[in-house]
Amino acid sequence: MDLKRRILLWTIGLAGGVGLIFGSVPFIRSLLPSEKTKVAGAPVSFDLSKLMPGEQHTLQWRGKPIWVLKRTSAMSRSLDEVRHELRDPDSEVSSQQPEYARNESRSIKPEYFVCIGLCTHLGCVPTFRPDTQSQDLGKDWHGGYFCPCHGSKFDLAGRVFKGVPAPTNLVVPPHRYRDPQTIVIGEDSV
Ligand code: FES
Repeated sequence: MDLKRRILLWTIGLAGGVGLIFGSVPFIRSLLPSEKTKVAGAPVSFDLSKLMPGEQHTLQWRGKPIWVLKRTSAMSRSLDEVRHELRDPDSEVSSQQPEYARNESRSIKPEYFVCIGLCTHLGCVPTFRPDTQSQDLGKDWHGGYFCPCHGSKFDLAGRVFKGVPAPTNLVVPPHRYRDPQTIVIGEDSV
């Protein structure tokens, strides 16, 4: 085969490959949920390997902020330390979490906490306050969430403190683990 013929065949092969790649993009896109579907409630997944201990990530599900927190061991210990200060430490208001998250850590795996980041008083977004012995929240503060609108406080399992306007614990959405490193929000754990 002469050189010209070979170059011609390579060019045709290359053009075909590029065409195949670009041609498949719309097809692959069509398999992913559209923005409209996500707002309507399609499940969203998150790669937990992105989180260091003590870090929290916010994602969106059904137009709401969803927090995924990887607790440190000190954070997990704090759940017991603040228990006596909480309004519903045992998550007895059952509408606030699925049954599989009705435990002290309000989660499936104690090191990961997932909840809807909206205050149960009037729906403001509380701030993540993992600091302890804070100047503004008091020397007994063990870390948690603080709502700047009217001062409601929640622990690191989203359990509401006594004596604040929010009536109930933060809401834990349906979620499950697709594999040890991937959490899916919007689908129940079986
Ligand atoms: S909205 Fe959070 S305390 Fe009122």
